Amino acid sequence: MLNDKIKELVEKCKSKIAEVKETSATELQKIKSESLGKNSELANMMKCMRDLPGEERPKFGQMVNEARKLLEEAFAEAESKMQEKMLHDKLEKEKVDITLPCDMTFEQTRGHLHPVSLVTNEIMDIFKGLGFEVLEGPEIETDYYCFEALNIPKNHPARDMQDTFYITENILLRTHTSPNQVRTMKKKQPPIKMLCPGKVYRSDDDASHSPMFHQIEGLVVDKNITLCDLQGTLETFAKALFDEKTKTRFRPSFFPFTEPSVEVDLTCSNCGGTGCKLCKGTGWIEVLGAGMVNPKVLENCGIDSEKYTGYAFGMGLERIAMIKYGIPNIKLFFENDVRFLKQFR
Ligand code: PHE
Repeated sequence: MLNDKIKELVEKCKSKIAEVKETSATELQKIKSESLGKNSELANMMKCMRDLPGEERPKFGQMVNEARKLLEEAFAEAESKMQEKMLHDKLEKEKVDITLPCDMTFEQTRGHLHPVSLVTNEIMDIFKGLGFEVLEGPEIETDYYCFEALNIPKNHPARDMQDTFYITENILLRTHTSPNQVRTMKKKQPPIKMLCPGKVYRSDDDASHSPMFHQIEGLVVDKNITLCDLQGTLETFAKALFDEKTKTRFRPSFFPFTEPSVEVDLTCSNCGGTGCKLCKGTGWIEVLGAGMVNPKVLENCGIDSEKYTGYAFGMGLERIAMIKYGIPNIKLFFENDVRFLKQFR
């Protein structure tokens, strides 16, 4: 049993707790330390115990402890009620109104492939269907693989055709993907039927040239390969990429690594060959370079040119994409303006 003074103290404290605002945690904390802390009345009572006669002390101590327990319970209850109330208020405030119309500016947009990737994939699919395997190689090359093995000796005027970024005298950024064909021929004997896509670099910059662009080149080496095989393959390719009516035309040209060499034109995909702005009224559009692999190149790569012949071709992918999609400037591919890119979704 508590004596009256202690009872009164407990009641006083309980009514203080009851008066605390439901959300004032600091106030509750303050009352708690005033009521149970070192300088509280309860603590002082404990200190007074030594003035009591010895036989009364245990009983008194028990009473004070009982009062402390009651108060601790009262505080614990008040604290948990307060936490519950605060959580409830927070949830009320944070309620999401699912009836609000969604803000279209935050619409999640799905990514998609870049137009250059789209044509790359399409072209690779066509050639894969014709039995070509895709092989990739390094973008930083040596002079040997990029030029010398391809029959372009140092100081030869043909080097002017490929405005090269040199890193050192013998190391450079590849100007075409042909070095990868040299690497492949050095590694394996014919039959070879390969395609190499990738980035290439040239010091050239205007509406139709970019210092970095993409190429796909093809190489076929086997017994009895002729210019007719090249023509048939490229015609099949052109019809698959544009449409059935597309015609191909070979014009004589020069590349040190092919002999004979040709430039390949396709009938204009825009006007069908009657002449328009895109083909400058000629009805034809130049799309790639090609030819029969120069026997010197085969020999440089350890392939018997008496036994084997081959053809090779190479094209710029941005150029193909520009023709296919009617894009007037190569820079549009690299500016990453979503208004441009979105059109290829
Ligand atoms: N490698 C040549 C270039 O980039 C393209 C080409 C490849 C021409 C194969 C003929 C044969 O200019």
